[in-house]
This record gives sequence, structure tokens and C-alpha cells, in this order.
Amino acid sequence: MKVITDLEDLKGKYVLLRSSLNIPLKDGKVRNTFRIERALPTMRYLHERGAKTIIVAHIGREPEETLQPVYEELTKYLPVHWGGQIGSEEQLKRQEMMGNGDLLILENTRQDEGEKNNDEEFVTKLALLGEIFVNDAFAAAHREHASTFGVAQKLPAYAGLTLAEEVRELTKVMKPESPSLFLLGGAKFETKMPLVEKYLESYDHVFVAGALANDVFKAQGYEVGQSMVSDVSLTGKEFLNNPKLLLPIDVVVEGPDGKRTCGVSEVKPEEKILDCGTATVEMLATHIEKAKTVLWNGPFGAYEMGYTQSTEITARYVAAAEAFTVIGGGDTVAAVEKLELNNLFSFVSIGGGAMLTLLEKGTTPVIDTLN
Ligand code: ADP
Ligand code: 3PG
Ligand code: MG
Repeated sequence: MKVITDLEDLKGKYVLLRSSLNIPLKDGKVRNTFRIERALPTMRYLHERGAKTIIVAHIGREPEETLQPVYEELTKYLPVHWGGQIGSEEQLKRQEMMGNGDLLILENTRQDEGEKNNDEEFVTKLALLGEIFVNDAFAAAHREHASTFGVAQKLPAYAGLTLAEEVRELTKVMKPESPSLFLLGGAKFETKMPLVEKYLESYDHVFVAGALANDVFKAQGYEVGQSMVSDVSLTGKEFLNNPKLLLPIDVVVEGPDGKRTCGVSEVKPEEKILDCGTATVEMLATHIEKAKTVLWNGPFGAYEMGYTQSTEITARYVAAAEAFTVIGGGDTVAAVEKLELNNLFSFVSIGGGAMLTLLEKGTTPVIDTLN
């Protein structure tokens, strides 16, 4: 992979930097600084070497969302200036005024409809912003958008420090040291099935939890009541009989009579499975203690509804483990941050979907542009 450290002289060069700044906001302020902290090393690197850095990124999914709050947060760490909308007069003027080492951040790339469909015209606009393209946006490395994919074909393209680190660390867990344990929670089995099948081959155990486990229970003929299930049926899938597959052994359910913990075979038609029970977490703990590699993506319960217990207790076990531990995914990382455990993991990925895509495919078209 070509990385910015390969570049000899950056002084006075216009560098177009794509960062991962899609950060949850609350009352117009950034809610946590995890992605900011991971975006800073490449920004500092370029700043210290005298490059004229133009930062682009997306935030949210609606075109009206703005990066202004992220810009305000960034100014606490680096002398970053606001450059306005991409291609606007304000932006052109600011770009011309830049001195060596200056940093300019532009408005949400998704405000232009050319971003998501990698439109030629928007790609050209972006390519005019720099002489070199640096992609540090690992969290968007599964999206072939203008600012991640298209522009890499127009300018000499290099990986930023964080993107390179993400690929390096996640590549390590694709060939895990044994005993190895993959913990996979969340929802949407249809998107995660290839991952489960692949990691049942390379890992000693794969634990499937969250709404994903409901699909397995359903295919095994258990009552899942009103629980969330995905659109695909797993009935007859071969991996269900794989002895390496671990599943919750008890579940927390909610029904007309309130909340209770029960065995997987005891769920009633009017109930909903919302978390794993404590017996499950204790079962996992014995595997975590022995493991040399633990890889984790996705919460084990309906996290936003307050079903955080099995995710949080497991997070404490994984944080205390001797193993090489890697976690990723928005909700999983938020859980770990809330408990202030993030520094106890070997590696915390900024990617959700990007992490899963890389783990499944070994690369992405966006990462390939940097090779
Ligand atoms: P991530 O966002 O971490 O990549 P997903 O999008 O695949 O993961 O899934 C996370 C979602 O799954 C969360 O919204 C969480 O509330 C939900 N979830 C997990 N377990 C359950 C469950 N048992 N019932 C309903 N929703 C669940
Ligand atoms: C991110 O920044 O986390 C990713 O790009 C995911 O956001 P998206 O699904 O809206 O692309
Ligand atoms: Mg999600």
C-alpha cells in the first residue's frame, strides 16, 4: 500500500485529504471524539511538513447535514479553517490564500449529489483541490463514492496513517492465533452470513448473538415470538451444524408480563428476545480467558432500548483478556467508550461496515486504489 510516509517533500503542496469525520452529534455538538482523535495523526503529519491540506469528509445521511460542529471541535487541536462548500467562491478564495502548513476543512461531501454516485463532474471538482490525494477515511472504505473512490483515479493516491493502520491491524486478525474467538452481534443476517461462514473456517469459535441469533433459533425450530428476525431464512444451512458455532444459552425477553430471563427453548409467542442472559456471558468468559485472539463486532442486545447488560459485561471480560483483542462497529465501540475500556483493547477500529467488508473480502475497491 502506498502511504503518505512514502512522500518525500510535502512542503507547499496542495493535499486533498479525505478523513472519517462522520461523528454522532447531540444538540449541535460532537458527542464523542473517537473519530476526531483517529483523524488527527494524518492531519498533524501534513501540517508539520508544510503541506496545504484541504480536508473533505461526509457527515450523516441527509444532504443538509453540516460539518460545522466537527470543524469547531477540530479547532481545539489544530489551526483548521473553514472553507465553505466544495467548488464555491468562498472555497476558491480560501484555497488561494493558504500558506504552508495550513489546513482547510470543506463542507459535507454529501451536500453534492455527485458524491454518492461517484459522478464525473463532482470527481473533477474534487480533483482540482489538490496535487495529491490522501485517503484516511477507513470508515468509508466500503463506499465507492466520489471522494473515496473516484478522485483516487484522478490524482496520485496515498493512504493516510489511520487507514494504513486499520488495514494492518485488521489483516492480522484474518489469520488469528489460536485459540481464537469471533464475537458477532447486531442485526441483518443477510449481510453477515458470508462472514459467519468464512470465520467458522478460520476461527476456533464464532459466537453469534443479538438479533442474528434469533434467525438461527428460528431455523432450529425454536419459538422466537415477536423477536426481530431478518428477511432471509437459514433453514437447512450447513453452518448451523458446525460445532464451532456458539449461540446464546439463555436470553432476556420482554412480554405482556414484563421482563424475564429464560432458556432459549422457553420463549413464549407473545415475547421478544432483547438480550443474552448471564449464563451465556459466563459461558463466553471461559472462552475469552483462554483465547489468544478475540475479534468483536456488533452489540449482543437491543442496545438503544437499554438492553446493554450482556454487551457491557462481555466488554469487561474482553478488556481484561490476555488475548490480542480487536473491536469495531458504532454501537460496540460506544459501549466500550462509555465504560472507559477503549485503551484496554489491542485495537479499536473506526469502521463498522468497512470493517466487516474488509474482514469478509480481505480488501475493498477503495483500498485497492491505494495499492
Ligand atoms: P452495527 O451498527 O454495530 O454495525 P448492526 O447495524 O448490524 O451493527 O446491528 C446493530 C443493531 O442491532 C442495534 O440497533 C441493536 O439494537 C440491534 N439489536 C441487537 N440485538 C437485538 C435484539 N435482540 N433485538 C432487536 N435488536 C437488536
Ligand atoms: C461511516 O462513516 O461510518 C460510514 O461511511 C457509514 O456511513 P454510511 O453508511 O452513511 O456510509
Ligand atoms: Mg448499524
